[in-house]
Amino acid sequence: MKWNEYQSRRKFLNFLGKTGVAAASVPTIGVLLSSCESSSTGTKTSNAVSDSGAVLGEDVLGIQSIGPSTKDDLVLSKSLKQKLLIAWGDGISVQGDTFGYNNDYLAFVPFDDKNSNDGMLWANHEYPHEMFVSGYKKGDTKTRSQVHKEMDSVGGSLVRIKKNADSNTWEVVKDDPRNRRITAQTMIPFAWSGEVKVQGKTKAMGTLANCAGGITPWKTILTAEENWNLFYGTRGDNGERKTNPKYDVQWWKHYDNPPEHYGWVVEVDPMSGKSKKLVAMGRLKREGATVTMAKDGRPVVYSGDDRTGGCIYKYIGIRSGSLETGTLYVADIKKGKWIPLDIRQNKVLRKKYKTQLEVLINAREASLLVGGTEMDRPEDVEINPFTKDIVVALTKNAKAGNYYGSLFRMRERNSSPLAMNFESSTLLVGGPDVGFACPDNLEFDQNGNLWFTTDISESKLGKKPYEKFPNNGLFMVPMRGKNAGRAYQIASGPMNSELTGIFFSPDHKTLFMAVQHPGSRSRSLSNLTSNWPGGGNSLPKPAVVQIYGPALEKAAKRPGVV
Ligand code: FEO
Ligand code: CA
Ligand code: CA
Repeated sequence: MKWNEYQSRRKFLNFLGKTGVAAASVPTIGVLLSSCESSSTGTKTSNAVSDSGAVLGEDVLGIQSIGPSTKDDLVLSKSLKQKLLIAWGDGISVQGDTFGYNNDYLAFVPFDDKNSNDGMLWANHEYPHEMFVSGYKKGDTKTRSQVHKEMDSVGGSLVRIKKNADSNTWEVVKDDPRNRRITAQTMIPFAWSGEVKVQGKTKAMGTLANCAGGITPWKTILTAEENWNLFYGTRGDNGERKTNPKYDVQWWKHYDNPPEHYGWVVEVDPMSGKSKKLVAMGRLKREGATVTMAKDGRPVVYSGDDRTGGCIYKYIGIRSGSLETGTLYVADIKKGKWIPLDIRQNKVLRKKYKTQLEVLINAREASLLVGGTEMDRPEDVEINPFTKDIVVALTKNAKAGNYYGSLFRMRERNSSPLAMNFESSTLLVGGPDVGFACPDNLEFDQNGNLWFTTDISESKLGKKPYEKFPNNGLFMVPMRGKNAGRAYQIASGPMNSELTGIFFSPDHKTLFMAVQHPGSRSRSLSNLTSNWPGGGNSLPKPAVVQIYGPALEKAAKRPGVV
């Protein structure tokens, strides 16, 4: 069943109608804090809103909120400071590696827990902009050398960064021997309790479409392959490669790589760069991979499959310290049940597939066969550190009239990540009345405030029905106190950009954030829609910024917690 049909059947907030944003001004967060019941009534607040609907100029936890901005800049609350850390094309290693394009998920792993101000930064690089990266012009035949430039621009970067004690800001340690790139040409083995063959191969050529991710308790990085179909297409009913000319970067014309080699979670050791594709976790258009640990030490990973009608997943590893073996579950929201995608446990799967590997390769289709609930584009997932609630960003479902998306929360029975049952409800609904639309990346700070960024498609920014949203933004939602459930805009991105990869430093004094695809609507190199971050007539560049200052520390850092 589709989640939105289920919602309306249960008489949830009527926010899915084409004009159904009226109810959206009623935050439902109070329900999250006090009850496990689904929310059909909210806590009414009188928002001090601007004509755009955003909570403006108000001081929240010491940070002054901003409103929407049409500026081609990273506009930040005046209570906070910002500094560029690294941008596309910057040299990172003696081997000549450069920082990739379209930075998305960010994670930082310190070398030593006692000195958490020095360590390795990981950045996902999701997809290339053909004009900026390879010089390809629509209609031309793409050359092998152009494909190579594009392949080198995606995957991930590992870069040592260190905090400068004088300036209290972070700097890249260029040419550290651990600095390296993983690209769409790096050979990466498949792992599933050891070696496994996917389409007859034990290794895939590269990783790509790296969207969001996670960090394991044993300090490895998980990077999720999302829109892999752009690069090598999908598999048709008769085994043929299927491509969509509207979304096709044509690498398949130069490399005959099977689509089945992509769509996995890749685990990366940030110190050595050693990587593997985790087959047991299944193949999706996976947004991210958020890891927690059960009381018995087993790792549990939550993910969304980001497509309209994609499901929410949980993966439970069978032993601590590894994700190579375990069971993938899909959420049945109506029944509040996790359903195993395990051929041994399910007759329906045995009827359609011969092996568990086949189930995992076709995990999206298998999920619908067993009763997984189709959601409105589930993107990032984060776990509230205090309530243990699972929060999922449901970006939007324009076809169903849900233009503004929502935050959805799930509560596992007994708050145990191993539970097979859960309750769920809508946490917060987007819309002009509440000042945000299309939530994507999420992050909780040490005080339990929820930070999130938005992803309104760059072709829709400022246009109907997003007139009130000229640019994407960064928001913060206090989860308790008198302002609980209100979304405060903290930053607005440069033209055509999406803000991604929000990640707090271990001391919660710095918020790292990636600015993705600024100027992506530029028609030509002489007709640019953005010049961020260099200004003047410079080319727009995706880049990572650090946000800091006493106000951030006050809001995000819990006293007494390192
Ligand atoms: Fe790559 Fe679903 O965002
Ligand atoms: Ca995303
Ligand atoms: Ca997105």
